[in-house]
Amino acid sequence: MLETLKTPGDTSWFTHDRFGLFIHWGLYAMPSRHEWLRSINQINNEDYEKYFKYFDPDLYDPRQWAQAAADAGMKYFVITTKHHEGFCLWDTKQTDYKATNTPAGRDLLRPMIEAFREKGIRVGLYHSLLDWHHPQYVIDAQNHPLRNHPDRLKLNAQRDQQKYADYLHAQTQELLSQYGQIDILWYDFSFPNEDGTGKGHKDWRSPELVKLIRKLQPNVILNDRLDLPAEPPTWDVKTPEQLQPRTWPRVNGKPVVWEACQTFSTHNGSWGYHRDDQSWRSVEQLVQTLIDCVSKGGNLLLNVGPTARGEFDARSLDRLAGIGRWMKYHNRSIYGCTQAPPEFITPQDCRLTYNPERKRLYIHLFVWPYKHIHLEGNAFAERLAYAQLLNDGSEIAMGVDAWQQKHLEGREKLITLNMPQVKPDVAVPVIELILK
Ligand code: GLC
Repeated sequence: MLETLKTPGDTSWFTHDRFGLFIHWGLYAMPSRHEWLRSINQINNEDYEKYFKYFDPDLYDPRQWAQAAADAGMKYFVITTKHHEGFCLWDTKQTDYKATNTPAGRDLLRPMIEAFREKGIRVGLYHSLLDWHHPQYVIDAQNHPLRNHPDRLKLNAQRDQQKYADYLHAQTQELLSQYGQIDILWYDFSFPNEDGTGKGHKDWRSPELVKLIRKLQPNVILNDRLDLPAEPPTWDVKTPEQLQPRTWPRVNGKPVVWEACQTFSTHNGSWGYHRDDQSWRSVEQLVQTLIDCVSKGGNLLLNVGPTARGEFDARSLDRLAGIGRWMKYHNRSIYGCTQAPPEFITPQDCRLTYNPERKRLYIHLFVWPYKHIHLEGNAFAERLAYAQLLNDGSEIAMGVDAWQQKHLEGREKLITLNMPQVKPDVAVPVIELILK
């Protein structure tokens, strides 16, 4: 088992639980075509104001969200308290730009946290470092909606990024002291360009912010987007997004705790609700993504963008339910599992996960084989005691494929699993191997 870099937060539950729900919810649910809309279309505060004025999620019932997450087998969630647009879901004292001042008329964060906790789901808070609404946030030339404003420099002369940093710290203080135990703090993001046009740790006063965080919530898992070096460790989890790492991610040569965050749809890269996007991943692809993460020692944080009326749309519910159907029978190959020891060679078209406590190996079949699964190498030959399909606990007969044994040189230790002709009716079949 690979040892990961030791970090300050408590990641013990995190590397066991493996599967979480990301929620991107804000005013951008109304235009419903990307949470970056303000930046993409270079919309100023005045023109974006209509969404604030009319935001009214009348169907919002976070208990339904929590139920959908629990049924999918998710063990933690991360909610956008504020995204780049600057709008706050909670009743912050630092700005009027918050849910309580919209037709929603209430703190939307608190009931959500309570509903998820009630289902035994741990609480993570996403918080945007970028802020396209705040009057002191210095307009950068890369992402800000006013980047091409003819008076950008003049406007910036009125702005003081350090006052914005004060605001960021004060909001962090609120979030980490008013909602009980927070398990994950997920900042997004830094873009420290070499030519100084970006934003990084100086703009957020990251070291000071980390001190505040550790003082208020010593065990919280902090992500890696505050533009701080990995060593000595300040952050706890590396967060690749919209891609699957090829191997277990390392920092300075050392494997780290990591979590991929992914969207249901492929085309727009939208995390917020996107009405017209048709490029949705199938349940099978999403289950494969979860497995792929765990097979490389990582987690999956899978995103839903709720609608402006406060619901998970039918497509999201369909995917979550499908994942839940798979998890019901196969979560043994996910919870408490990690990358398999290297002596176990991954069979063709498969992913392996391993439960080090129970000493069980899981073969996930991304393609149903013609007839056999071949397990190469001494480790399997010496340690394999029993094999069964996980969905129904039916035995998989093991043997030796005489032909392969005879004709393929250099593969003396080849165990063959004799697979049934018909693929079980599950998104991804799994074989559980009990080891001696
Ligand atoms: C990005 C995007 C953002 C999304 C996030 C999730 O950095 O700016 O919209 O919230 O990734 O990882």
